[in-house]
This record gives sequence, structure tokens and C-alpha cells, in this order.
Amino acid sequence: MTADDLGRVAGAGRVSLLDRARDLIDRLQASPRFREWATAFPLTRPLARRRARQLFDLCAGFVYSQVLLACVRVRLFDVLAEGPRTVDALAPRLSLTPEAADRLLRAAAALRLVAPRGDGRWGLGALGAPLVGDAGIAAMVEHHAVLYADLADPLALLRDPAAPTRLSGYWPYAESGHPADLPADAVDAYTRLMAASQPMVAAEAIAAYPFARHRHAVDVGGGDGSFLAAVAAAAPSLRLTVFDLPPVAARARARFAAAGLSGRADTVGGDFHRDPLPTGADLMTLVRVLHDHDDGPVLALLRAARRALPDDGTLLIVEPMSGVPGAEAMGDAYFGFYLLAMRRGRPRTPEALAELIRRAGFAQVRPLATRTPMLAGLLVARGRSDTGMPNV
Ligand SMILES: C[S@@+](CC[C@H](N)C(=O)[O-])C[C@H]1O[C@@H](n2cnc3c(N)ncnc32)[C@H](O)[C@@H]1O
Repeated sequence: MTADDLGRVAGAGRVSLLDRARDLIDRLQASPRFREWATAFPLTRPLARRRARQLFDLCAGFVYSQVLLACVRVRLFDVLAEGPRTVDALAPRLSLTPEAADRLLRAAAALRLVAPRGDGRWGLGALGAPLVGDAGIAAMVEHHAVLYADLADPLALLRDPAAPTRLSGYWPYAESGHPADLPADAVDAYTRLMAASQPMVAAEAIAAYPFARHRHAVDVGGGDGSFLAAVAAAAPSLRLTVFDLPPVAARARARFAAAGLSGRADTVGGDFHRDPLPTGADLMTLVRVLHDHDDGPVLALLRAARRALPDDGTLLIVEPMSGVPGAEAMGDAYFGFYLLAMRRGRPRTPEALAELIRRAGFAQVRPLATRTPMLAGLLVARGRSDTGMPNV
């Protein structure tokens, strides 16, 4: 039973005053007569309009995402970064007819991705400007095409956890009984996606945690080394080790060499479900790794981390978490269904993760605030507890 389940059971049977008030508000909002009144009454009208817009956005969100995909595929933001252009000038750059370009630009403007300028020209919008040159977001949007296909029948996904999905093929280690045997081309697409999106995550972790206080960091499931390469700049004396599947570790080796880090960085290829983790480091990091896996393998991995670290070693968990105020949709809706389609793992609350970490034998676990919790939350664990079962 998870920490979340325990909380639910403890609260079962009691209906708080707050819950009664929520039930009443629900009943009111479910009533067409009340909604009619709220829309007509001047003081409640702004709220009624906002609710109606939010609801419409929920219904239409899949269309908005596809407008964004079209913009990314024709590299609209990079083209507009050269300066505002008319539809006629843009159309050939986007390989679209002027009519189709006009339709795309109007849709993108409604979503604040682009904005009209004077003289019939179009420029970047408030949400399009930050996407200029951002390979991470472009790669993220592009790979959503696979998820989009899987989500066409969300109930089928929920009802048949064994049905094959396209996304589980994109992340082949999720389904493989022997992930260490995966060939290089099977890990290529996801490793490039992770590398492209890593800078935003690494920036969050580096702003929140003083890596320079450590001697040696092992990044387990460290991908092509992008995370440790970013950390290396903030902690110039830190020794770096990436542990990942053999073909991914090979990419990390090449990346460290290209970045001139080979003198203080090494890589170990292996399967963290079967092989011991590298020892000798005083810091172990798990970045966007645990949420990909079910509770049993996560607990086993955390115990392996406890075994590999010295008693006073530190474990750092960096990943998007569920139930985080302000990032609820990202945690439970986006990652909840993303991982459902991936066929492994679940987004966890910081409390649920902390409970697993304690069960793995760490004495203290505490959250550290990040600047953008939607991108990543952070937990720091230290010490060895007597009650844990690190050798099981
Ligand atoms: C979601 S990616 C995260 C990569 C990187 N930490 C990042 O945030 O960019 C998960 C990583 O775990 C690695 N991984 C998955 N299963 C593994 C296993 N059984 N043994 C070793 N590495 C594994 C994958 O190859 C991948 O690099």
C-alpha cells in the first residue's frame, strides 16, 4: 500500500466541512439553471466565462497541440526569428500555399504562438518566441505524434494494460526482459530526445542543489551524459560517472570525449535491474528514471543505490512529480497517461517517493524547492537507517 493509499484509508468514513462545501458547489455548477443565472449576473459573469473557456480548452486541447506540431514541423518559429514576414513571403518557406499558410498563422495567433504586426506581416507571439532554437521542446512536440496515436482510444489503454502501444516501442527498455541486449539503434531516438530536453531539467537541479560540495557523482540511467556535462560546469572538481544500458553508455563516452571531459568522466554499461551499481561515489543521481518504472523495480533500484553509496552518501532524485501545487496537470494528467501508454511506471507524489526511499534504507529524505516544479521536483536522501532492508 502506498503513502497515498494510507492517507485515503485514514480519511475514509469522515466527510469534512470542506468536502460538504465542495459537494454543494458541484451540485450548483451541474445545474443548468444555476449556470444560466451565473452567466447573467454581472458579478459572477467573469467567473462563468472563465470556466466556460477552460472547459472548451479541455475539449479542444488536442487540436491546439496539432497546430503546434504543424508549426514545429515547418520550423515556423525559427523562420519568424529572422524577422516578421507577410503570408506571401512565408508560404514558400513553409512549403504551404498562401491560403494554407494564412490558416496556420491565424490558428497559431489564436494560441499566442505568433502575432500580427503592421503591414500585414506576422511575427513571433508570446508563446512562440521562447521556442526559437529550442531543440528540446521541438523534439518533445515531434515525438508526441507517437503518444497521440496511442491516446486515440484512452479507455482501451486503461482497460488493457497488456495491449501493445507505439510509445512502448519508442522506449524499448520498458518492455524488454533483457534491456542490456538492446542494440544501438533501439536506444537512439529516446536518447536524443532526452539529451535535447535535458538542459531545462539540469538547470533546475543546478539552481537548487550545491553539486560542488561532492567529490564524485554517479548518474544512474544518465543517458548520453548531458546531465553530468551540465553539472560539470557548475562543479569543476567533481568526478563524473554515467551508468546506463551499454549502447547508451557508449554515447555518453563519446559525448564526454567531445566535451573534453574524459579526464574526469567515465561510463559503465549495464542493467540496473541486474548489475551492481558503481561504488566509490559520494553522490548518486536518478534523473527522470524512477517514474518510468513500477514500485517493485523502483524499490530494488533504490536499495541497490543504498548499497553502492557510503553510509554518509547522498542520493538525489530529480523528476516531475505528481500532486505538486501549480503542476497538477503535468504530473497526474500528462505523465499519468504518458506512462500508461509507455506501459510502465507512474508519476509519484514527493511523499510516495520519500516512503519508497525510506523503505530502501535511507534515514533522511527531504524535498528541495525547484524554480519550475512542472519541469522537475527534487528529493535529497542521506544516511543509512536501521529499519531499512538495504540488502534485500
Ligand atoms: C527517461 S530516460 C532519462 C535519461 C536521463 N537521466 C535524462 O534525464 O535525460 C531513462 C534512462 O534510463 C536508462 N535505463 C532504463 N532502463 C535501464 C536499465 N535496466 N539499466 C540501465 N539503464 C536503464 C535508459 O537507457 C535511459 O537513458
